[in-house]
Amino acid sequence: MSESIIQDLLHYVDKSTENSIAVADIAKGLNVEQTVVESAIKRMGAVHPGYIVASSTSHSETHLTGEGSYMADNGSHEAVVYNTIPEGDAGMPQKELLAMGPNYKVGINKALAAKWVAMDKKAEGGPAIKRAVATITDITRHNLKLIRDGKSVSETVLKDLKKRKAVRTVTLKEQFVSKGENFSAEIKVYETKLTPEMIASGEWRNKELKPYNFQAKGAPLACGHLHPLLKVRTEFRNIFLEMGFSEMPTNNYVESSFWNFDALFQPQAHPARDAHDTFFIKDPANCATIPDDYMATVKATHEDGGATGSQGYRTPWTTEEARKNIMRTHTTAVSARMLKKLADDGFKPSRMFSIDRVFRNETLDATHLAEFHQIEGVLAGEDISLGGLVGFLNQFFAKALGMDKLRFKPAYNPYTEPSMEIFGYHEGMKKWIEIGNSGMFRPEMLEPMGLPKGVAVLGFGLSLERPTMIKLGLNNIRDLFGHKVDMQMVYNAPACRLEKF
Ligand code: PHE
Repeated sequence: MSESIIQDLLHYVDKSTENSIAVADIAKGLNVEQTVVESAIKRMGAVHPGYIVASSTSHSETHLTGEGSYMADNGSHEAVVYNTIPEGDAGMPQKELLAMGPNYKVGINKALAAKWVAMDKKAEGGPAIKRAVATITDITRHNLKLIRDGKSVSETVLKDLKKRKAVRTVTLKEQFVSKGENFSAEIKVYETKLTPEMIASGEWRNKELKPYNFQAKGAPLACGHLHPLLKVRTEFRNIFLEMGFSEMPTNNYVESSFWNFDALFQPQAHPARDAHDTFFIKDPANCATIPDDYMATVKATHEDGGATGSQGYRTPWTTEEARKNIMRTHTTAVSARMLKKLADDGFKPSRMFSIDRVFRNETLDATHLAEFHQIEGVLAGEDISLGGLVGFLNQFFAKALGMDKLRFKPAYNPYTEPSMEIFGYHEGMKKWIEIGNSGMFRPEMLEPMGLPKGVAVLGFGLSLERPTMIKLGLNNIRDLFGHKVDMQMVYNAPACRLEKF
C-alpha cells in the first residue's frame, strides 16, 4: 500500500467538521474504493497507532425476495389458488390447478391449511378443490406490501415470511473514523538509526527515535536445520539418560544372521529370515567373527534345548545360515550383543538403550519404508518381573509422550515370553494407538550367553517415526523420511516438545 492514501486519509479527517466520519463518505471524497480506505485504516492501526480511531455500527434491513415481490404484486400463492377456483360446488380438478404453474402446489397446501378451500377426494375424474369460504383476506400480501414500503411487522410474521423465503434480512455494517489521541495531519517521521555522528554533534537531542518493537518476530536464520527425527531422537535419548540408561553402540548396519536372529532364539526356518523381509549382503556374504564356543551353545539350544531344559526347535541348525550377513532388521541385534558382553564382563544390573536405523524389505506405502528407526530399551536385573516392565513402561511413556493410559495385548516374539504389544490412549486423537512391542527375554536366549539363572531381562521397542509423525501431524511416512521429503518441512518443523503433542 502506498503511504499516500494514508496521508490523504489523514488530511480528509483533519479537514472534516464531523466528529465521526463515515468511511463510505471518505471513499467518495477521495474517489477510491471503500476497501482501499478500509485497508488504509487497518494499516494505520498497525503501523501508526493513535492517529485515528475506527468504529462501526451495524443495523439490519429486511427486503423482499423475488418470490416475495411476486406475491406482493399478484397475491399470495394461496390467494391466487382461491381466486382461480370458480364459485360453486363443483370446484376445480386438482390436476388442472397443479398444471397452471409451479406455485400452485404450495398455494393449494396453504389454502387448505387456512381452510379457504376444501378437497373433495371422491369427485368424478379425480380429487377436486372447492372454495370453502365466501371471501378471503390476503394478509400475506398485505404484510409483504408493508415490508416493501419500509413499515415494520411483528416478529412472528417476519419469521413466517422468512420461512416461506419471501423476505430476507441483511445486516449492514457501517464504518466510521474519528481523530485519535495522537492525531496529526502529517505522519511523524521517526529516526530509526542512532549514528555516532548524531551522538558526537549532539543532534540526537532534536530527533525523535523510533521506539523498539519488542513484538517483532526475528528473521529466520539462514542456517542448517535439524531433521525432526533427530530432534525427537534427542528427546528420547534425554529421557533414557534421565532414567539411568546407558547408550548401546549401534554403528553397524550390517549384521550377521547370528546376532540378528540366532542369538535371539529365532528359528532358522522363521519366515522373517527369508528374502521377503531381510536384505542379504552379497559381498561379504558371510561373517567370520562369531565366537565358536557361544555359537556351539546356541546351536545346541536351538536343536534340543541344550543345558537350558527347553526342548529347542528339534530341527537341524546350520552354521552356514547363521554366518549370512544381512542388514539388521531390528536393534534387538545390538541388545543381544550387549547382553552377551554383560554376561562376559560379569553380570551387574543394567539399563541400556539404543535409537538407530533398521532395514526391512517391505512393500513401501504410507506407513512403511524399507528403512526406519527403532527406539529400544532393555533392563536386566535379578528381581525383575513382568509387573516391573508394566510399571516401567507406564513411567516411560508418560515422560516421553505424555501418555498416562496404557494397555497391553498378548503378542508373540520368538525371543520374549510373555510378549506384549503396547497401546497408548492419545488424548488429542481420542483413541488407542499402537505404540510398541515388549516382553521378557526367554531363558533360551539368556542362558547360552552365560547370564546367571536368576537374572531376568525386559525389553521393549518402538519406532522413532511414529511419534514424530503424530507430533508433526503427518500421515505419510514419505513426507518425513526419504527422497520425497520437502526441505521446507525440515526448515519449518518446530523445536520438539513431545509432551504437548
Ligand atoms: N525387536 C522388536 C521389534 O522389532 C521390539 C522388541 C524389543 C520386542 C525388545 C521385545 C523386546 O518390534
